[in-house]
This record gives sequence, C-alpha cells and structure tokens, in this order.
Amino acid sequence: MNSVEGVAIASRGGAPSIFLRNITKAFGETIALSDVSLDLRAGEVHALLGENGAGKTTLMKILYGLSQPDSGQIEADGVVLKIESPRDARAAGIGMVTQHFSLVKNMTVIENIALASAKTFAIDLAKVRAEIVAASARFGLDVPPDAVIASLPIALQQRVEILKALMSGCSYLILDEPTAVLGPNDIDSLLEVIRRLRSDAGIGIVLISHKMAEIEKVADRVSVLRRGQVVSSSLANGITSKELVTLMVGEQQSGAEQRQRSASPSQSPILVLESVGVSREAGGLSDISFTVRPGEILGIAGVSGNGQTELVNVLSGTTQIDSGTITVEGHQLGSNTPQSLMRAGVGILGEDRHASAVHALQVVENLILDCVEKFAGKFQLRRKEMLNHCESAITQFEIKANPKQAFGTLSGGNMQKVLLARLFSRKPKVAIISQPTRGLDVMATNYVRSLIAQASKQGTAVVLVSEDLDEILELADRVAVMYRGSVVGIVDHTAASRESIGELMAGIAK
Ligand SMILES: Nc1ncnc2c1ncn2[C@@H]1O[C@H](COP(=O)(O)OP(=O)(O)O)[C@@H](O)[C@H]1O
Ligand SMILES: [Mg+2]
Repeated sequence: MNSVEGVAIASRGGAPSIFLRNITKAFGETIALSDVSLDLRAGEVHALLGENGAGKTTLMKILYGLSQPDSGQIEADGVVLKIESPRDARAAGIGMVTQHFSLVKNMTVIENIALASAKTFAIDLAKVRAEIVAASARFGLDVPPDAVIASLPIALQQRVEILKALMSGCSYLILDEPTAVLGPNDIDSLLEVIRRLRSDAGIGIVLISHKMAEIEKVADRVSVLRRGQVVSSSLANGITSKELVTLMVGEQQSGAEQRQRSASPSQSPILVLESVGVSREAGGLSDISFTVRPGEILGIAGVSGNGQTELVNVLSGTTQIDSGTITVEGHQLGSNTPQSLMRAGVGILGEDRHASAVHALQVVENLILDCVEKFAGKFQLRRKEMLNHCESAITQFEIKANPKQAFGTLSGGNMQKVLLARLFSRKPKVAIISQPTRGLDVMATNYVRSLIAQASKQGTAVVLVSEDLDEILELADRVAVMYRGSVVGIVDHTAASRESIGELMAGIAK
C-alpha cells in the first residue's frame, strides 16, 4: 500500500471509507488505547461511547493528527494516510471540533473562518463573508459573521467551529462531547444539524457523547470503548441503551434505576423561600419562591447562567438577600450567613468540587474541614478520632483513597464522594446539592445519585441544582425552572414532561 499525504476522500454510498487499524497508544504507564480498530463511513453518524478515560478523545486526536499512535495506521479506501498534523487531517477531509474550542476569542466570526481557510496572505473578507452566508444556509448553521467570538454564547461559538470545519472541506467531522456544554434546546438544534449534515451533505460524523438519549436520536452506528479497547461496534438499531450502558461500565453495574418516589408526604415544608431577591450587583435574582419538605427532592433546572449559581450562593450564605425571606423549620432566618444556615441544618455540596476542598490537604483533613471543632483537643486536633471518622467514611461511601492521600490526587468521582461524605455525615436537615455529577463517569454518577436518593429516603430535604435534565428527571419529586434570575415554573415530577420543562428553560412558556 502506498503512503500518500493529503488524499481527498470523496467516496460515497455507505462503503467503509476510513479505517483506523490496530491503534495503540500509551502515556507512560497508562495504556490509553490498545489495538483499537474502527471503521467510519461516509454519510453515517457514528456514536463513540465510553466512560471518562476510556480513550475516546485520544483516538480521535490521533485521527485528527493532534497526537501520534505508538503503532497502528489510518487508511482511507485502502490507502494508508500519513496524518502528522491537523493540516494533514484536513487535507484528507477530516475535521474536528475539540472539547476546548480553538477560536481566537477577540476576533470576529469572519476573521476566524478566513484565518482557517486562508491559503495566502491576501484574504478577501467580502468573499469569505459570501461563503459563510452560503455555507450557513446550506448546512442550517446560522452565525452572525461580524460578531466577536467572545461576545457569543457557547452554543454559537460551537456553531462557528462546526462551520469552520465544514468550510475547510471536510467530509468527516469529529465532534468531541459537543452536547456537554449545551442546554437542552441547543442540544436539540445541534442534533438537527448533525442529521442534516449526514443526510443532505453525506458527511460522516463521529459523535462522542455519554448521553443515551442523544445517541438514540441520531446515531446510525455505535461503538463502545472501555479501558482503551473497543468492546462493541454495531448498528444503532441493533442494540438497546441498556446494553450500551452495560458495555460501557462492564457487568457489575448498569444504568441507574429510577428513584422510588413515595406518595407526596404530608409533612410541612422544612425549607421555605418567599419572594427572595438579590441585587443586580450580587447576581440579580428576583421573586424566588419555593418550598421543600423533608424527604423531598426539589430539582432546580435551567440553562446555565440563569441564576442557579446565585441561588446556591444565597443558600450557602455567601450572597446576601435583599428582599424576601428564608425559613428553615419554621424559623425565619434574620440574615442568610454561612453560620446561620449551617446552624439551621442546611448543608451544601457546591458546584465546583475543587473550590470546596483544599487540594494540598489530606483526605482526612478535608473530611472535617467544616466541623474542626468536633475534633479539637486541648492543644491540637485529635488525630486518632479524625482517622477513625475518615476510615468509616471511606468504607461507607466507597471512597477509593487512603486517609493520608492528598485530596488533589483523587479522581473526580472520589473527590465528590469525599465531599458528599462530609456533607451527609453532618446529617443536614436540608442539603443543597449543585451539579453533583458534572464530569463524572457513569459508575461514579450512578453512585453519587444513589447517595442523594438515599439521603432523601432518610428524610433529608434536598435541593438538587443540575444542568443535566436527565439527572433531575431521574431524582426529583418536583422541578423548579429558573430563567433570567427567577423561578418561572414549578412542575410535578408526574406532569414533568421534558418538553414543558424545556420550554420553561428557554423562556417560551408562561
Ligand atoms: N496527554 C496525556 N498524558 C497522559 N495521559 C493521558 C493524556 N491524554 C490522555 N491520557 C490518559 O489516557 C486515558 C484516555 O483518556 P481520554 O482519551 O481523554 O479518554 P476519554 O476521552 O474517553 O475520556 C486516560 O487514562 C487519560 O488519563
Ligand atoms: Mg474525552
């Protein structure tokens, strides 16, 4: 076989067109990919699934020339491609939108696209504009050509990235977890774009995602990576979501069960917010009212940036309210300080697990950070008791760490378990839990969700703030939707159709 540089791939008609053959790649001790083979076809959406660390990004970076394999090769229609850089990949018709966008933030859409497609120094911006308009129309990807990238919401920046790749003439497009940064309605439009690229333009798409619902909607073919190996590759309609999850995580544990919801408890609410408002300078919240009963999980849904973070700040006492009231167990708080909330029995799991702990401190120290007084001896901390406390938390919460390990060296899932252990071992009456599974793999996600369900079963009132609507629908009894700093609707789980929540999130329902 010949090795040629930059072969344009023009084959159509569903024939296998790109073969990744026996790709192996190690990073030091870590074997990221072990003898992986994968076929990509033109005009097909190929979903690539796998837990965090399975090797998906590494494999696609190799295809796009961002990384070199230790062994193995890439072929197009029987010819070995030499892909040593993204430039080689693009010349071979392969484009990629990586998780971290590569747009120049302080330049406009036009300038970014012109830069990417420039073959000479003389750039004809008027011509590029016309090309953008034509390509936007052709692919259903509207972008504002003159907008500066930094001023665009993430969904639009992503569209620019996709358009940029398409305009460089790719016939294969790799999208690495494109929906992770999007709200539900933007996800739907992206999936529509993907369908269109496949059906109207015959583009072969690799879609990396953790989310079964998305795979079900658009994938023609699904491959699952686990620990650097392909464990399954099949037509999408030949395999169920349940089977895919089992393949992803192995046999031990598959998809999370729906939480058992008991009939609506008649107990009176333990947490009551009434017309809570926060000044514009402090984030801008207005007229937030809701109640949570013991044992109930109230989900807070919303596209990111609609006041969820500010609401959590209010409930952790880091942002003061300037109107309305917060009542815990019938007692109205004079002011919402961290101390008054904690004394009232409100515990927090913040959205940023790194900010909630001290990386350099040991697990055992991080576990007691918010109740140091409990372990204070006459002159120093009672180390032995701290260790006992830590060891029982490690067992109870299935934390894979030893007590003296620095917190910063733990995996995301184990960090989260430490923080949940810290939260729940205080036995809070109300737990405010924000983005608990962001960035975690399927196993850790399921475990964290089961901990939340368990706490509610034991009577804790939970406020669950999450950008993952599936997570909210899986766990919550009721769902409050935030939009532009207000709660625009509260929907019962039973009546909580995804669409009505989606409409509330987009601000189009009233
Ligand atoms: N540049 C790198 N240096 C060291 N290890 C890496 C590097 N990139 C990826 N890895 C490791 O390779 C494995 C696969 O990672 P990745 O391809 O990012 O997985 P995925 O995209 O499926 O989450 C992981 O164990 C990861 O820690
Ligand atoms: Mg990845």
